[in-house]
Amino acid sequence: MGPQVVYLFCYCLCIAMCGTKLVEAIESPAYTVATSESDLEIRLYSESSWLSAPVRGTSFTQSTEDGFHRLYQYMHGGNLNSSKLAFTAPVLTSIPSSTSSHGNDYVVMFYVSTKYQGKPPQPNPELKLQVDKWRSHCIAVRKFSGFANDDNINKQVEALINSLSKYYGSSDTIQDKGSYSIAQYNSSRHLSGRLNEVWINVSGPNAQGCPLSH
Ligand SMILES: *[C@@H]1O[C@H](CO)[C@@H](O)[C@H](O)[C@H]1NC(C)=O
Ligand SMILES: *[C@@H]1O[C@H](CO)[C@@H](O)[C@H](O)[C@H]1NC(C)=O
Ligand SMILES: *[C@@H]1O[C@H](CO)[C@@H](O)[C@H](O)[C@H]1NC(C)=O
Repeated sequence: MGPQVVYLFCYCLCIAMCGTKLVEAIESPAYTVATSESDLEIRLYSESSWLSAPVRGTSFTQSTEDGFHRLYQYMHGGNLNSSKLAFTAPVLTSIPSSTSSHGNDYVVMFYVSTKYQGKPPQPNPELKLQVDKWRSHCIAVRKFSGFANDDNINKQVEALINSLSKYYGSSDTIQDKGSYSIAQYNSSRHLSGRLNEVWINVSGPNAQGCPLSH
């Protein structure tokens, strides 16, 4: 990864996530907190639309940059309506639970702002983006600071899985063991006070409820 790529990524993230902030607060997907512990939070997220950039790659960091770049173009008019869309937080990257050095299917995502929920403009085909609809569901969340990268995310994921076992006896609450996600909230120009989260889909004893602590 060359310095120019890094520069572009920083620049884009900055425009995306600080520029807008001066004008209005950055939107995030809505949720309610079902359980809150020192080392984990269970949230119930509302139904929502997300713009997704699938990326085949070997690195979380590199794949996030690749996907972000395509989403950035979409947000800046790379859609059939030439509409400009407001950026939202976080930048979410879903990662397969078992990764291979030969290549993995990452997906980099942005929540679609309220104005376009359910009806975002069609992406230009060459950007290879898709619109994903999420039904309302529960997510176990672990927060961590610093820069999320290939060297530190696995430790955070393991810690969240351990917390889930601690509170729920086993990892049976985990809905889909095949993948988890990393949410990044801040522009790369912020060196401190950064917030990231590990997200794992979970389900409670009944289909509607999120798991509650014992
Ligand atoms: C995009 O443009 C089409 C055709 O003009 C219009 O019907 C549609 O509502 C627009 N979509 C958005 C999200 O602005
Ligand atoms: C989490 O669940 C939602 C709703 O079922 C689904 O759309 C999404 O793809 C899941 N995410 C992961 C990382 O499995
Ligand atoms: C990072 O993002 C979080 C969540 O939006 C925010 O609370 C925090 O203040 C941000 N940090 C910086 C340094 O801007």
